[in-house]
Amino acid sequence: MVTEAGVRILGIETSCDETAAAVVEDGRRVLSSVVASQVDLHARFGGVVPEIASRAHVELITAVIAEALVEAGVLDVTELDAVAACHGPGLAGALLVGVSAAKALALSTGLPYVQVNHLEAHLYAAWLEEPDLEPPLAVLIVSGGHTLLVVMEGHGRYRVLGQTVDDAAGEAFDKVARFLGLGYPGGPAIDVLAATGDPTAIPFPRAMVDDGYDFSFSGLKTAVINHVRRYPDAEVADVVASFQEAVVDVLVTKLVGAAAEAGASTLVIGGGVAANSRLRARLLDAAGATGRRAFLPPPALCTDNGAMIAATAWWRLRADGPTPLDAGADPNLRLPSVA
Ligand code: KG4
Ligand code: ZN
Repeated sequence: MVTEAGVRILGIETSCDETAAAVVEDGRRVLSSVVASQVDLHARFGGVVPEIASRAHVELITAVIAEALVEAGVLDVTELDAVAACHGPGLAGALLVGVSAAKALALSTGLPYVQVNHLEAHLYAAWLEEPDLEPPLAVLIVSGGHTLLVVMEGHGRYRVLGQTVDDAAGEAFDKVARFLGLGYPGGPAIDVLAATGDPTAIPFPRAMVDDGYDFSFSGLKTAVINHVRRYPDAEVADVVASFQEAVVDVLVTKLVGAAAEAGASTLVIGGGVAANSRLRARLLDAAGATGRRAFLPPPALCTDNGAMIAATAWWRLRADGPTPLDAGADPNLRLPSVA
């Protein structure tokens, strides 16, 4: 069990289309964080192509790790205390590149290897900036592949209250943007364009808003498509602002409801969609209006990065010790729930 101070962990993330590595000290101080995005490679296909992602990770991983070490002032890998990689959920071939790189480094240096759950890592991004967060926390993880509402009762203790029954929130942003010809990834493009539109212009449906903690975004996506087909001259900025508002309304309502039920005084968000400026503004308002705190990691820590992997590994190493080197990747890994 790691208890001493000054523990430096290299975190590697290759679950989707970012090749990322970072060195984090004691689970909170980011000494370096390098993210090589493959967005340009996938953009012309309108989404991530798994084979292209795996190949790009192989080409980029060594340089990205080397840059993270240099930026952190680590002259030799043996100066580190552990090497961690995301082992799921994600694309199988992509995950294997990061896991293999981490295990090779661990094997050749004798350093401990730590496998990290990507969803748990999105949650721990908040702890990087705010190590004194007090559970229980009401946490919303919203990314391209997942929409999860979780009560974090303590380190490693999660109660999953709800998740999407169809599309993830980020997936809805990407699909609507693709339909409107706004490019890939769609979330950031919609975020920017929506700022110039009227969020009340079109009353898109708020699916399941008062119905438990699960989410559904596929009907909203269809409603946007139907609206644009029916009114081809509709102002695109109004369409995306109204769509974004419908997503944000549901996310904020359910997160605040979960916080009330769990007696949590702090709201936390993570995952790529947590970079959305409207979601961030509305969450701060909702927290203020209900006497709660909202903790929003900076956008660069919301989207995929290696620092969140290294930070989570620090907590996991303390709790569980190193991961055996014969452990593999798990594309369908879930967040373990205590209830
Ligand atoms: O967490 P992430 O980087 O990768 C996954 O684990 O999936 O999330 C990527 C998702 C994409 O769907 C992207 O469109 C969305 O996050 N996203 C955003 C914004 N920035 C990224 N969605 C809305 N607004 C943003 N500013
Ligand atoms: Zn992610």
